[in-house]
Amino acid sequence: MTAQKKILLIIGGGIASYKSLDFIRKLKEKNFEVKGVLTKAGEQFITPLSVASITGNSVPTDLFDPDNEAHFSHIELARWADLIVVAPATADFIAKAANGLANDLASTILLAATSRVVFAPAMNVRMWENQATQDNIRQLESYGYAFMGPTHGSMACGEYGMGRMLEPLDMVSKVEQILLPIITSKFKAIVTSGPTREAIDPVRYISNLSSGKQGSEIANALYNKGVDVVFVTGPGSSLPQAGMEIIEVNSAEDMLEGVLKSLPADVFISAAAVSDWKAVAYSEQKLKKSDQDQNLHLTFVQNPDILQTISKSGKNRPKLVVGFAAETNDLRNNSNQKLTQKGCDWILGNDIGEGTNVMGGDYNQILFLNQTASENWPRMTKKDVGEKLADKILAFLNDKGS
Ligand code: CTP
Repeated sequence: MTAQKKILLIIGGGIASYKSLDFIRKLKEKNFEVKGVLTKAGEQFITPLSVASITGNSVPTDLFDPDNEAHFSHIELARWADLIVVAPATADFIAKAANGLANDLASTILLAATSRVVFAPAMNVRMWENQATQDNIRQLESYGYAFMGPTHGSMACGEYGMGRMLEPLDMVSKVEQILLPIITSKFKAIVTSGPTREAIDPVRYISNLSSGKQGSEIANALYNKGVDVVFVTGPGSSLPQAGMEIIEVNSAEDMLEGVLKSLPADVFISAAAVSDWKAVAYSEQKLKKSDQDQNLHLTFVQNPDILQTISKSGKNRPKLVVGFAAETNDLRNNSNQKLTQKGCDWILGNDIGEGTNVMGGDYNQILFLNQTASENWPRMTKKDVGEKLADKILAFLNDKGS
């Protein structure tokens, strides 16, 4: 394991709560840092003191506890974790989460979380089989939450069936499996994605049609192959799966700042459709029709070129810099020119001409260029482009023997 990963354990109220202490111990043996949060029901079964003693961290229990809010708010706790584990996840807690309720510390943390979340359900077999519980689980799965267990077995209530929480050792294995990409991460990538938005006045901006789908698929593919990914994205566009660091920005200048502060990295992939221009002067007040003659005259200046800046960033330059060339005509020549002018290592040229439906669509067709090679990739899904590019990037980085 390369770096200590952080687990936030939400302990719900059920007879299986007693297993949480052993679960924490086993996580710590594997070098995870653990913080615990108890629901009110959880406190009926184990004490904050026992959780604090085993984790070595204080245990907040109350959403409105002024002391804890001063030290680390529920938002900070939600952001702190690489993975949030809810164990035991009771039928009640699952129902709350499925409906987006946030009326105590644990449910508020969950709603504010950007990290991955895995539930370890524990309940009576009838409660587990109840249609309401099953619907809630499907709902949570559709939001991207993961589940581990339950399993069959005898229960504290004397019944036998599905609903037993997994054993601590099995839960630790599942946690390792979920976190595998970031645990084993050998390389770091920065991916820009989506459009940027350049404000003109408080209600108007210029932007473009980018959906961010290609950027998020590249990020997903890299992440699933074990790369540590920082995803710098413009507004309103496709987000990758949970687990990566996401930096949300508006303008090209913000995007450049997001990328610069994320360096160093092994590879930079500039998939964003960065707005080339911004208004010379931002108007603090809404531009009024009455203040103009019939037409509105705005002057735009060029934005910084992020790809070029990173390609020429000297000792901080990633080993591999990958750009895109979005062209409506003369794809090969224009892509070649961008390869040279911007100083990147690879260019993925794509024809965004009318009728191709590349911008916003699910498919892409790539002309891959570097200083020595040119490849025509057949039309494929943006997910497949992400996979192919990620494989190529990893082959390159592994070859460099980093
Ligand atoms: N790019 C960038 N910063 C900019 C403009 C573009 O980082 N201000 C990057 C894009 O992310 C892409 C590459 O440069 O990887 C090419 O972008 P593209 O829109 O195809 O070309 P432009 O450089 O904007 O040039 P033009 O619009 O004249 O084709």
